[in-house]
Amino acid sequence: KKNLGVLASGRGSNLQSIMDACAAGRIPARVAVVISDNNDAYALERARRAGIAAVAVNIDDYTDKAEYERYIVKVLMEHGVHLVCLAGYMRLVGTTMLDAFAGRVMNIHPALLPAFPGLHGQEQAWRYGVKYSGCTVHFVDDGMDTGPIILQAVVPVYDDDTADTLAARILEQEHRIYPEAINLYCTDKLVIEGRIVRIGA
Ligand code: GAR
Repeated sequence: KKNLGVLASGRGSNLQSIMDACAAGRIPARVAVVISDNNDAYALERARRAGIAAVAVNIDDYTDKAEYERYIVKVLMEHGVHLVCLAGYMRLVGTTMLDAFAGRVMNIHPALLPAFPGLHGQEQAWRYGVKYSGCTVHFVDDGMDTGPIILQAVVPVYDDDTADTLAARILEQEHRIYPEAINLYCTDKLVIEGRIVRIGA
């Protein structure tokens, strides 16, 4: 079984879908530690309830981002983490974490990348007036939501949607494809050739 480290800043519904998939044996992994940059994140509470180590890290307690990330890397290492999963982690990952976990950081984004990167991907898409949007699981590189794409799911945008109803439709798909992508990684099914990620046998 592989050890996952999940970084989450908020509600943690994606964290929950990952914990549930692990508990149900749908991913040969366990969530070993949940780390949040926000002490009040409900994600931390979800972890504690499941008996999983929950660690809050306040960036203001550190002199700079590198020092902050060195601490996060230490916690991840202490828990023997193989794969870092960003689940609503609302910060750019810096070189400290990326160097320590090269090729082993995944993210879920609530839009069809490369469209609408950054914050509020669902609302950006809704405002733009696209007829389809969705979500993307990708490996994290040093850009903003620019790393190699692993899985995507498409949802329609309806005329009577609001940003919120669209976000809810997208979230349902997030909860489906993030555990699926993590399972593909944990079962060594992902074949990575530069930017292109294929699903092998
Ligand atoms: C999710 O929609 C996720 O895709 C998004 O934040 C939400 C977190 O919800 N992530 C980003 O926007 C990353 N920039 P959750 O805390 O319930 O999983």
